[in-house]
Amino acid sequence: MNRIQTLVTMILFISTFLVFFYSTLHLEVAHGHRAAGVRGTALRNGTLRVLVGDVKTQAPKQESLSTAPPLNASTSNGLRQMIPQNTAYWNRLLHSALNGSRPEVRWSRCREMSRELLETNIHDFSSYPALFQTFLEGMNCRAPPVLIGQPKKCLSGTAGGEQTFLLFAIKSSPENFARRQAVRETWGREGVYPNGLRVRTVFLIGSSLPDEPDLGLLLSAEAQLFSDLLQWDFYETFLNLTLKMSTFLEWARESCPRVSFVFSGDDDVFVNTPLVLSYLQAVDPSRASRLYVGQVINSANPLRDSKSKYYVPLSFYQGAYPGYAGGGGFIFSGALLQPLHSLSLVMPFFPIDDVYMGMSFKALGVSPEAHAGFQTFDVKSQDRENLCIHKALMLVHQRMPSEIKKLWRGIQSPLLTC
Ligand SMILES: *[C@@H]1O[C@H](CO)[C@@H](O)[C@H](O)[C@H]1NC(C)=O
Ligand SMILES: *[C@@H]1O[C@H](CO)[C@@H](O)[C@H](O)[C@H]1NC(C)=O
Ligand SMILES: *[C@@H]1O[C@H](CO)[C@@H](O)[C@H](O)[C@H]1NC(C)=O
Ligand SMILES: *[C@@H]1O[C@H](CO)[C@@H](O)[C@H](O)[C@H]1NC(C)=O
Repeated sequence: MNRIQTLVTMILFISTFLVFFYSTLHLEVAHGHRAAGVRGTALRNGTLRVLVGDVKTQAPKQESLSTAPPLNASTSNGLRQMIPQNTAYWNRLLHSALNGSRPEVRWSRCREMSRELLETNIHDFSSYPALFQTFLEGMNCRAPPVLIGQPKKCLSGTAGGEQTFLLFAIKSSPENFARRQAVRETWGREGVYPNGLRVRTVFLIGSSLPDEPDLGLLLSAEAQLFSDLLQWDFYETFLNLTLKMSTFLEWARESCPRVSFVFSGDDDVFVNTPLVLSYLQAVDPSRASRLYVGQVINSANPLRDSKSKYYVPLSFYQGAYPGYAGGGGFIFSGALLQPLHSLSLVMPFFPIDDVYMGMSFKALGVSPEAHAGFQTFDVKSQDRENLCIHKALMLVHQRMPSEIKKLWRGIQSPLLTC
């Protein structure tokens, strides 16, 4: 009896200690030394600021520090169940975000997390790859300055603000002009398609790295010509793609809130737009507001090879990924823009953008729907030029600009008999 009492007392004592220990580990806001916003603008003075028509350069957004909405109970539960509670850093961040601690920090007030704090929170932080360390230092910063905006994108060209049916949001980078042009001339062409379906396109780009030539002038000219560029003042890097998604969500819920469907994908994919449109038109109304469709990757685990682009250290994240649609190209309901955006203010950023999106949809209780027409890992090599195969697909990754043009012309040809 006595031994049991001692044991119970010890367990109680240890768990109190553990709770205390963890709560001190969590997320004190770093009193870092550098404001990311200040650094960002100081480094890139070359970017031309223009104000022509729709192309508008905005000053950093009005600051409001209290914009993160509380998560509602069902969202919180979805998240809580999805992410195992363990000692890995991101898992801890997520669970304490659910307990009311808000990671959101607006860009101009954002201080990079200090290495000291990260080393305190993550025992092997110093062995992380340099880029991953950089990601962690800046992962709390939200809403970077807009360099090129399109605030009226979804109103232009229509009398009464006619509704956009499909918005192509294409991840590109400053130097990829030829890819963007191929998309504009083919599957991403803006306009009204059969049945009065309006399609619009935006390319999402960051800014050039300091060692790269400054393409600001060309981008401004391109934006004036086509009114389809969105550019933000953050470096165009793989580990900034989640930031790119969140800035897109911020733009879209403000500038294109009534869009029916959003396509998110890369600038080197081929999309069969007519097929996508007829598929979306046939979506059952009960699903139309909660659609998330693409090539679904189920029960994937983080890659632990430190040389991989997708490397995620064990002490950063532990657990499987929820099912997610491959980031090469997937489609979701415009009705989800607002909740996704709210979530992106609260949920800690994850280094892999399509996994992050999968987690976000999961948190909203939306499951990814697999569709065999999305081939983000490409078709068999002998089918790469087969027009009939491509006519039956919605998306293929990856294709060069000239291949995109050839395929597009091919599948439109009235002579094609499949
Ligand atoms: C940026 O460039 C402009 C024009 O060349 C110059 O007047 C300004 O001082 C520069 N600003 C910084 C922060 O270097
Ligand atoms: C969050 O709060 C719940 C209940 O208040 C507690 O059980 C849980 O351990 C907390 N999680 C973290 C990570 O602090
Ligand atoms: C993301 O962009 C910011 C702002 O330019 C930069 O400071 C940071 O290093 C970038 N992060 C990564 C992981 O490349
Ligand atoms: C909470 O969010 C879910 C998913 O977005 C939504 O279906 C539900 O109606 C919301 N509940 C409340 C009380 O707002």
